[in-house]
Amino acid sequence: TALSRRRFLGVAGGVVAAGAGATGVGLLFRDPEAMVTGGGPGHAGGTRPQVSVADLRGPGAPAARGTARRHVLTARTGTVTIPSGRAIDAWSYEGRLPGPAITATEGDLIEVTLRNADIEDGVTVHWHGYDVPCGEDGAPGATQHAVQPGGEFVYRFQADQVGTYWYHTHQASHPAVRKGLYGTLVVTPREDRPEAERGLDLTLPVHTFDDVVILGDQEGRAVHDVRPGQPVRLRLINTDSNPHWFAVVGSSFRVVAVDGRDLNQPGEVREVGLRLPAGGRYDLVLAMPEAKVTLLLDNDSDQGILLRPPGVGGGDRPLPDTADWPEFDLLDYGEPAAVPFDADDADRHFTIVLDRALAMVDGKPAYAQTVDGRAHPSVPDQLVREGDVVRFTVVNRSLETHPWHLHGHPVLILSRDGRRYSGSPLWMDTFDVRPGEVWEVAFRADNPGVWMNHCHNLPHQEQGMMLRLVYD
Ligand code: C2O
Ligand code: CU
Repeated sequence: TALSRRRFLGVAGGVVAAGAGATGVGLLFRDPEAMVTGGGPGHAGGTRPQVSVADLRGPGAPAARGTARRHVLTARTGTVTIPSGRAIDAWSYEGRLPGPAITATEGDLIEVTLRNADIEDGVTVHWHGYDVPCGEDGAPGATQHAVQPGGEFVYRFQADQVGTYWYHTHQASHPAVRKGLYGTLVVTPREDRPEAERGLDLTLPVHTFDDVVILGDQEGRAVHDVRPGQPVRLRLINTDSNPHWFAVVGSSFRVVAVDGRDLNQPGEVREVGLRLPAGGRYDLVLAMPEAKVTLLLDNDSDQGILLRPPGVGGGDRPLPDTADWPEFDLLDYGEPAAVPFDADDADRHFTIVLDRALAMVDGKPAYAQTVDGRAHPSVPDQLVREGDVVRFTVVNRSLETHPWHLHGHPVLILSRDGRRYSGSPLWMDTFDVRPGEVWEVAFRADNPGVWMNHCHNLPHQEQGMMLRLVYD
């Protein structure tokens, strides 16, 4: 029965919580005067020395070898007209959808001044998947106060991680991200080939507004002219709360990176459906053939990207029904390589049980998206020490998919439903735990602070599916 199922979960939650217990680590704020102790009903408060956020901020000056990349992101409400001419009633950074593209070369300093013009709920910038120092993480109530209308906050961090990432507000992220408070962050390696040899490099965040889907900044199908033989890199980013499907018609390709991290010796694939979890990224690479290539979004022949060799016109062949293509599986993709820790010898092991269940919400029982039978902020913290190897078992007991996302640390995927990942080491920051699935993942606790750990279906996060990972 539903009741005994909940009771069982209560027990499971208790076992899990025993490893965590109540914590007195305070919220981390830049201004020590504003520092608050305790994070909600799950937190005892006041028993441990306070960590100062000042120790966990990013660098104040550009690195000797890098360039300072400075941006202002002003968050505001208002209509944004996208290239198709459609007007979208949005919340945006700098009046743009997506917000300004932030790019850097490895080793640069990124400095972003966030201002809030008129977002009543407040706003932050969270660097999704980027392992910034904790004080730059943009998690309101944990690493900073949300920036109120008229206020500002300066984020500073070193661009030491190469790859495809994105940013978004973390304050009332549902509905604020859906309304448009998001943008992309791409860091390229320092060496690199001369400009002319780099080919086409497209950053393609997909985002759904109420009645329109945009890929990059376009709705419908964008066309790019590409010479045969040129390398093409497609950086696919899912900024929505549900998975999206991509398919490449007319060429084989390699998936060279997942969630910004390179895969080891990825092979060529073709005619597969790529399911990209909410929050996730795939980098695809192909060599432009003599004929057209289409990137299809969600099996919709009107949505995506068309790559066209110059001079190849007319005569569109009908596109195949890519919905029938088998799902691309990372389980044995690429080649094994050494990883920096032994995941079978973890110092901490947490089980995270996800469900929709009755929980106390604002002091009353209500259906919520729960972790171990509780809703944020009543879920006990996970306590770790710096240097620990930490293992998570993530169990989905519900009928919905939960894209699980840990801030500040990529996790190594070990297994999914008992099947061990046997290809390239796979590091993800957002992995889709589908109904009934159990995932095993591990990471090294090497980034001290307080980190949110939550479902990236943002309505689920809003309904309680979130907890904190706290360095003891
Ligand atoms: Cu992209 Cu805590 O989120
Ligand atoms: Cu969820």
